[in-house]
Amino acid sequence: MDNHLDRVINRVGTGAVKWDNVKDVFGVEDALPMWVADMDFAAPEAVRKALIEQAEHGVYGYTGIPASTKEAIQAWMKKRHGYDIDTKWLLFNHGVVPSLGTAIQAFTKKGDGVVVQSPVYTPFFEMVERNERTVINNQLILRDNHYYIDFEDLDEKLSPDHVKLFLLCSPHNPGGRVWTKEELTKMAELCLKHNVIIMSDDIHSDLTAAPHIHTPIAAIKEEFADITVTSIAPSKTFNLAGLQASAMIVANEKLRVKLSKVLAQHGFFTLNMMGTAAMEAAYREGEAWLDETIQYIRSNCRLVEDFISEEIPELTVMNPQGSYLVWIDCRKLGLSDEELMKKILHEGKLALGQGSKYRAGGEGFMRMNVACPRSIVEDGLNRLKKAIQG
Ligand SMILES: Cc1ncc(COP(=O)(O)O)c(C=O)c1O
Repeated sequence: MDNHLDRVINRVGTGAVKWDNVKDVFGVEDALPMWVADMDFAAPEAVRKALIEQAEHGVYGYTGIPASTKEAIQAWMKKRHGYDIDTKWLLFNHGVVPSLGTAIQAFTKKGDGVVVQSPVYTPFFEMVERNERTVINNQLILRDNHYYIDFEDLDEKLSPDHVKLFLLCSPHNPGGRVWTKEELTKMAELCLKHNVIIMSDDIHSDLTAAPHIHTPIAAIKEEFADITVTSIAPSKTFNLAGLQASAMIVANEKLRVKLSKVLAQHGFFTLNMMGTAAMEAAYREGEAWLDETIQYIRSNCRLVEDFISEEIPELTVMNPQGSYLVWIDCRKLGLSDEELMKKILHEGKLALGQGSKYRAGGEGFMRMNVACPRSIVEDGLNRLKKAIQG
């Protein structure tokens, strides 16, 4: 039977960053883009219907976020992640990266320390640096092709008085680790001990694949919820990044007030009405689409793993437990990051995420986005083989 996810949808010329910015970013015209973290799949039918209805209404005035949208988020968090939230705890923002900035401004002052865990999604560093705070890195440990937390180092890094905030990536990008409840508990206990607020970026959480289970760190205990901001979005889950809608879940009223003040300083008032409509439809009616898409992504991940172990044994694949980003260890090639990137781009005509962009520990790795039709994954793998083996 035909699978709708196999259909290649042409995104060239639509302004899609992944497809239309390849020449600007990589300097190569015809590289297959498997870098930016969005999907090449059409969003769920219910989302498209909601957007068409909204567009057809014809009046696009100031539009707030209705109670029904908040209830849809509440029901989703309960059903998918076992997290019971009050709709009063919700704040909105255009994206999770803007929310990282909001938290940095709300809870720290210039020069304060913010803990991150490299290799990690580049804006974790950039937002700290752009806001003139200090990055404190608790580098992850790579063992048996998985990332683990160095708790001793985390304890040390959280302890100085000027360290006020911990940016947690849960699940982790780029390694795709879904942190266990035990790991999350240990991290939160350390933050409690050192009086550090947690900003948990859970944007990839909905993509967690069995047998792994994502636990929102704030859902473990009330004391943890009291020091945590959980940042969520339907953008990765349902491929809605262009609609720029996300939410923060903040149980502690004092933290909520501080975040609201910064949002007001930014002039933030409400979401784009299209983003709101899409978010509600996705959380209400997108579950079956998501489950099917996760299965499809899992088989793409298996394909990458099998192909690389059979055809390009010089490389090692770290398959994601939650997300559609495959982290490929190319260190055995003995190339510098620049040489590796050049080889893959020029000889393979393939645009991947460069490991060193994720900073310490990312050197010698490449990130491949497999949220695309199988034929694109196959094309990407053949290009990778050509680049590595000539
Ligand atoms: C961990 C993580 N956080 C945030 C984002 C982007 O979030 P947004 O587009 O909502 O700002 C991404 C996108 O790749 C991501 O991987």
